[in-house]
Amino acid sequence: MTKLLVTGGAGFIGSNFLHYWTKKYPSDQIIVLDSLTYSGVISNILPQIEKKLIHFVNGDICDKNFVKDLFKQYCFDKIIHFAAESHVDRSIHSPSKFIETNILGTYSLLSASLEMWENNFKGKVFHHISTDEVYGELNDNDPPFTEISAYAPNSLYAASKSSSDMLVRAYNKTYGLPTVISNCSNNYGPYQFPEKLIPLMIINILEGNVLPIYGNGSNIRDWLYVNDHCTAIDLILNSGKIGETYNVGGMSEITNLELVIDLCRKIDFKIDKNDELSKRFPNNLRVKGKSSETLIRYVTDRPGHDYRYAINPKKICTEMNFKPAINFEKGINFTIDWYLKNEKWWRAIMNGKHSDWIKKQYNENR
Ligand code: NAD
Ligand code: TYD
Repeated sequence: MTKLLVTGGAGFIGSNFLHYWTKKYPSDQIIVLDSLTYSGVISNILPQIEKKLIHFVNGDICDKNFVKDLFKQYCFDKIIHFAAESHVDRSIHSPSKFIETNILGTYSLLSASLEMWENNFKGKVFHHISTDEVYGELNDNDPPFTEISAYAPNSLYAASKSSSDMLVRAYNKTYGLPTVISNCSNNYGPYQFPEKLIPLMIINILEGNVLPIYGNGSNIRDWLYVNDHCTAIDLILNSGKIGETYNVGGMSEITNLELVIDLCRKIDFKIDKNDELSKRFPNNLRVKGKSSETLIRYVTDRPGHDYRYAINPKKICTEMNFKPAINFEKGINFTIDWYLKNEKWWRAIMNGKHSDWIKKQYNENR
C-alpha cells in the first residue's frame, strides 16, 4: 500500500487523476490537499470521499507550517503536485496569486518533503505536474518541444510554472530529493472549469452565446485527452527515472478556429438529431434554424498570446510505451457528451454557487 499525497485534487486534472487512481489502485491510502479556490470543485471527488477511497484535507500549500505538520502526520511515499493557479488570462490581470501558489507553494511542498524524508529517499517520489508553456511558442515550421528545449516563458502563468520547475530541479540536484517533472500539452475532458477554451465554447454554443476567438483564431494547441495524461502520470510515477523530465502530448495539433468550428458543427448535429436537446437548450442557434458558427466573434488578442504549442512525446513513448489511447475525434465527442450529461455541474459553476455548502462542511476538516 502506497501513501499518496495529491495536491489540487479537486481541480480538473487532479479529480480525473483521482477517479483513475482509485479505480486502479483502490488499496492505496490517498490524501488530497486542496484549498478549494474558484477552480476547486469538491463535488468532483465527493463519491471518492464518501466511499473513503480518499481523505480530503482543506488547506493551502503556501501555508508552510500547516504543510509541514501534515507531512509529519502522514509521512507520504509519493507526492503528485497538481495544485496551481492555471489560467493564463487570470495571470495577466492578477499575477500575484500565481507567484504565491505556483512558486512559493511549490517551495513549501519541496522543503516539507525534504524534512519529512530525512535523506531516506528509497521508494519516494515527488512528481511535479508542469506545462509545455514553459518552452514559449513555436512557429509553423519549428519542431515540437522536447525535454531539452530551452525555457522561454511568455505569460505570467508560464513564468511561474517555469520557476517552480527550476525549484524542483534544484531540490533534486542540491539535496538529492527524488523528483520527476512532466510537462504536458493542453488537456481537455470531463470536469474542466468552463473558463478554458473547450468547455467555455461548448457551453456558449448550447446557450446561444457569442464565441470569442482571440486574434484571428490561427493559434495552435496540441490537445491531450485528460485520461491519457493520467495514464502517463501512472507510468512516470511507477517507472520514471528520478531527476528526469518527461514531455506528454496528444499529437493532436489544431487551430483554435478549426476547433471552435468543429464544436459548432458537432453540437448542431446532435441538436438536429435529438428533440430532447432542443427542449433543454432553447437558446441554441440551431434550434432557431441557424448555424452556431454565426456566433463566432474575433476579439482583441490576449497579450503575449503564444502562437503554437506542440510536444514531441518520443521519450515517454519509447522508454515507457506510452501512447495516447484517445484520438482527438473520439475525445472531443466524449467531452461534448459529458457536458451534455452534466448540465447541473456546469450550471452550478456558472451561477457561482458550486458546492458552497460542501465547501463549508470541509472547511471544518483542518
Ligand atoms: P485547475 O485550476 O482546474 O485546478 C487547480 C486545483 O488546485 C484546484 O482544485 C484548486 O483549488 C487547487 N489550488 C489552487 N491553489 C491552491 C493552493 N494554494 N493550495 C491548495 N490547493 C490549491 O487546474 P488543472 O487544469 O487541473 O491543472 C492542474 C495542474 O496541471 C497545474 O499544475 C497546471 O499548471 C498543470 N497543467 C494543466 C494543463 C491544462 O490543460 N489544464 C496543461 C498543462 C499543465
Ligand atoms: P486556454 O484554454 O485558456 O488554454 P492555454 O491558454 O493554456 O492554451 O486557451 C486555449 C487557446 O484558446 C489559447 O490559444 C487562447 C484561446 N482562447 C480563445 O480564443 N478564446 C477564449 O475565450 C479562450 C478562453 C481561449
